[in-house]
Amino acid sequence: MMASTEGKKKKIRLLFVCLGNICRSPAAEGIMATVVKKHDLQDIIEVDSAGTSGWHEGELPDERMRLHGERRGYNFDSPARKFRKSDFDDFDYILVMDRQNFSTVRSLATGKEQTDKIHMMTEFSRQYTHHDHVPDPYYGGTSGFELVLDLLEDACEGLLQAIKRKYGL
Ligand code: 4NP
Repeated sequence: MMASTEGKKKKIRLLFVCLGNICRSPAAEGIMATVVKKHDLQDIIEVDSAGTSGWHEGELPDERMRLHGERRGYNFDSPARKFRKSDFDDFDYILVMDRQNFSTVRSLATGKEQTDKIHMMTEFSRQYTHHDHVPDPYYGGTSGFELVLDLLEDACEGLLQAIKRKYGL
């Protein structure tokens, strides 16, 4: 019998990063998981999220973020964890929500290979190109959470298209 290489293919791993890992990045993780499934790529692409702070470690996403997500059919349920240096080895793309996240993650990177993995999420926007970051909704009202979802739904589709092109999927 021929030795099977099935199951040994390296996965493409995506890590979404914000400050608290309770609003934007768990939403990005949940939306991207849905987009990946829609394109039937769940065996190839894996998603996770983290915060540059450990302030909410172990907590479920913010209730407001969960509620706004539920209204669009998502279930954001990934517990918060802090970004760690080993994430540079474990992930292919590190997608940050704003400039502050970018600087923090960038300061932990060693070498070009790690630095090149860091991308602003809005780099992949298709419709919302006038937004250069995903604004922090934590201290704001309802519209902030809706904007986060609009921006992320758009950028997640753009990200998937970019990955498909890059890897010939
Ligand atoms: P996130 O939002 O970075 O999108 O998860 C925040 C969550 C918590 C805090 C700030 C932003 N905080 O100050 O606790």
